Amino acid sequence: MAENTLRHLAIIMDGNGRWAKERGLRRTKGHEAGIETVRKVTEFCAEDPEIETLTLYAFSTENWKRPKMEVDYLMHLLEKYIRVEQPRYMEYDIRFETIGDMSPFSSKLLRTMEETKALTRGNSRLTQILALNYGGRDEIVRAVRHCLEAGEIPDEAGIGRHLDTPYIDVDLMIRTSGEQRLSNFLLWQLSYTELAFTDTYWPDFDVVELRSIVDDFKRRQRNYGGI
Ligand code: FPP
Repeated sequence: MAENTLRHLAIIMDGNGRWAKERGLRRTKGHEAGIETVRKVTEFCAEDPEIETLTLYAFSTENWKRPKMEVDYLMHLLEKYIRVEQPRYMEYDIRFETIGDMSPFSSKLLRTMEETKALTRGNSRLTQILALNYGGRDEIVRAVRHCLEAGEIPDEAGIGRHLDTPYIDVDLMIRTSGEQRLSNFLLWQLSYTELAFTDTYWPDFDVVELRSIVDDFKRRQRNYGGI
């Protein structure tokens, strides 16, 4: 039997807070440690010739409900990560993209994101997409609205065209930290996705475990509703 191809990997990076709490640290320390995992996982994907897209759930539309201090810290961390990462995006030939409603973000964060998108536009080995202020239902509603505004019929192809990124099916979605929910992530793109859940907290997640999840995915039977 032929192995499945992994072109698009999506990850819900969960468990930073619990990782920190178990060590008697502030939650923000968990997010800081999570950055290192983001880096290692992104490098892993850039070095795998099959993987074209990596989408990471970095901030959901619901995450604004967290204490202001944590939200502010996450914003600071994000801006710093994207800025510091620029040479690595160039070294690994990675294109940086985002999905979600960017309108509430600070001008500093928006500027860094725009600058990084422009800098990496020509890179083609891997596209790293950060989902920021992202909600799957919100994305679908906005796509339907754009479709109607353009005078198009909101059928599958029409809605697909107006999603935040041109419609790319996700082959494998991983969620860390033991939670087994989609939490409003890529609802449209996950329709036929293989799902994998691990108890490991995001800061402890490593490429050895990722390799084993990917190998398991390759052996799965994917029927897409057929037999
Ligand atoms: C979930 O852990 C994680 C987040 C809400 C944010 C993810 C952010 C990072 C991994 C760091 C920044 C990311 C980038 C791309 C720079 P949680 O806080 O919900 O953990 P808990 O469920 O244990 O409380």
